[in-house]
Amino acid sequence: SRSYNITLLPGDGIGPEVIAESVKVLDAVSEKAGFSLNYTEQNAGGAAIDAHSDPMPDSVVETCKKSDAVLLGAVGGPKWDELTGAMRPESGLLKIRKELGAFANLRPVTVPESLAENSPLRPETVAGLDLFTVRELTGGIYFGEPRGTEGEGDEKKSWNTMVYSVAEIKRVARVAFEWARKRRNKVTSVDKANVLDVSRLWRDTVIELHAAEYSDVELDHLYIDNAAMQMVVNPRQFDVILTGNIFGDILSDASATLGGSLGLLPSASVGGPVGIFEPVHGSAPDIAGQGKANPFAMILSAAMMLDTLNESDAANAIRAGVDKVLADGYRSGDLWKEGNTLASTTELGDLVKDAALAAL
Ligand code: NAD
Ligand code: IPM
Ligand code: MN
Repeated sequence: SRSYNITLLPGDGIGPEVIAESVKVLDAVSEKAGFSLNYTEQNAGGAAIDAHSDPMPDSVVETCKKSDAVLLGAVGGPKWDELTGAMRPESGLLKIRKELGAFANLRPVTVPESLAENSPLRPETVAGLDLFTVRELTGGIYFGEPRGTEGEGDEKKSWNTMVYSVAEIKRVARVAFEWARKRRNKVTSVDKANVLDVSRLWRDTVIELHAAEYSDVELDHLYIDNAAMQMVVNPRQFDVILTGNIFGDILSDASATLGGSLGLLPSASVGGPVGIFEPVHGSAPDIAGQGKANPFAMILSAAMMLDTLNESDAANAIRAGVDKVLADGYRSGDLWKEGNTLASTTELGDLVKDAALAAL
């Protein structure tokens, strides 16, 4: 029978809390759908610094490489905020993405009818929204060389380099065009080509690839500042957004609020042999350990994992389960409004598990 090896990297803060709920849901649906998931749990981020003085030990990377998929909670927190460079929890996350060749980060945002009222925007602005960001994840200013710091006092300087090669741009642009063909056939490429050389190359490369291989897909281009404004004013114009590492990081947190909370937004970091499935949010130190975390972003990331393992019935059941729980009015504190029922992290996990089983 079908069986998959999953590495769990719960990480820090609310990471372990939301990972536990995703495992609860996965165990239930996999049993009913007739496949099994074997988990190996490893430390990552701050937890790995505490245990091994390294935010992403090579042994953890090796475990991830040998598995069928990686589920990651979140890393970082105040305890490790004085650390610098490769010793930071966040550097561990960048390392595992790079080591697994996960160059494309897929960040879908949907706003079901039931959530339109929870959005900080007008319900009619967001109802029915369905957009999909493809963020380049292993290049750009996050990884560019040279980088560093030198000097003292007022002469002290630090620098990073935003660099992309044609090959890096093409491979992530292909991912965006392929997704567009499966969706509403439109790509909006976001850059800063009016100022940055690297963005000029980005735009020219996307235009060339489009002309050569994807001219059936509608393509347009926006500068990042305008894109951020459009995201808030008229988000339903977007189908697939294609952008670089740092612009995608910023724009996707903004897009997450359309449905009312960062706690709803899942992601898949793919392109290499093993994918990482990770919510867009962080370790949320302000609510960690209180049962307040919204587990939906993590649970929906687990559904994206099942999609890539070709267990789409189970993945769809999980999504249907989340939709049902939202439609029934249950909300964690990040989304709660008058008329909703406030529920804890574990209560929401239980509700999704039951609703997903009923949908399978
Ligand atoms: P954050 O995403 O952790 O939190 C931002 C705000 O959103 C907070 O108010 C938080 O309570 C809320 N929030 C986030 N997820 C939520 C959820 N599931 N349910 C309810 N509310 C939620 O961002 P931050 O505060 O800027 O960063 C905290 C730490 O997390 C930092 O160390 C940062 O580097 C790290 N971080 C890690 C990841 C990751 O591991 N993928 C992503 C982003 C930030
Ligand atoms: C994210 C996070 C990470 C990023 C950090 C924690 C390295 O913000 O996954 O969006 O910037 O990629
Ligand atoms: Mn981010």
